[in-house]
Amino acid sequence: MTSESILPLQLEEVNFEYRHKRLIKDFSCSFEQGLRTIVIGPNGAGKSLLLRLCHGLLQPTSGQVLWQGGTGADVARHQGMVFQRPVMLRRSARSNVDYALSVRGVPRQTRNTIIDEVLQRTGLSRFAGAPARQLSFGEQQRLALARVWALQPQILFLDEPTASLDPPATYLVEEILKAIHDAGTRIVMTTHDLGQARRLADDVMFLHRGRLLEHAPAAQFFEEPQNDLAQAFVRGELLWWHRKHPLHKPGQEEEFAE
Ligand SMILES: Nc1ncnc2c1ncn2[C@@H]1O[C@H](COP(=O)(O)OP(=O)(O)OP(=O)(O)O)[C@@H](O)[C@H]1O
Ligand SMILES: [Mg+2]
Repeated sequence: MTSESILPLQLEEVNFEYRHKRLIKDFSCSFEQGLRTIVIGPNGAGKSLLLRLCHGLLQPTSGQVLWQGGTGADVARHQGMVFQRPVMLRRSARSNVDYALSVRGVPRQTRNTIIDEVLQRTGLSRFAGAPARQLSFGEQQRLALARVWALQPQILFLDEPTASLDPPATYLVEEILKAIHDAGTRIVMTTHDLGQARRLADDVMFLHRGRLLEHAPAAQFFEEPQNDLAQAFVRGELLWWHRKHPLHKPGQEEEFAE
């Protein structure tokens, strides 16, 4: 296993089409080492598609997803993804982490040490022997983080990991994400929770209708977003503008042309 960094990750003019509709449009950006990027934008903006394209679950119709320090299996091994609803195997919490490590070829003795550590760091030691699917959603999400953390990814994509959690469970997940980041993993995460974005972001990407409309350091983005739609979004206004909408503002056709 190489210890070379696979970062930065670069997207160059990435487009993703489905049935002749462009869902991701001319997307270019770079993910350097060390930061926590929060991706925000209204429903259907393309946030989940972006993460799936980065993680290799979808292939761009045109353009490139480039990893600077690796290719193929190497790249796959060094990145992880966590979804809104964790999918647990029908076995104990401990075995769920063990399975991920064994698939990776980690020897048993090492596996046990790693499992103890990640369960402890995610506050799940007392649930080690419990059936994973019987844990609460918050506990399962922490287990999903423990499972992915055990593999020590260089970059971790998270798609609304706290969307179905209450504030205390969300707090615990955020603390774990900070610890994962402090331990050296680059974070790219979507959220609908602007408070969470303010708490966690080093930089913010604002997507709307498949386009990256703004990418800025968090302080700058929240203080003074440059894009008018980003301003509206930060103010908590709905982004309902549409050509055919009765409240449509004239002059926006060009901006939103497909
Ligand atoms: N695998 C797919 N194939 C085709 N179209 C898709 C696919 N996934 C999503 N879409 C469509 O692409 C658009 C963007 O979807 P996406 O799930 O990325 O939005 P999102 O920003 O994550 O929204 P939300 O905030 O609701 O999660 C939507 O119109 C959706 O219907
Ligand atoms: Mg989504």
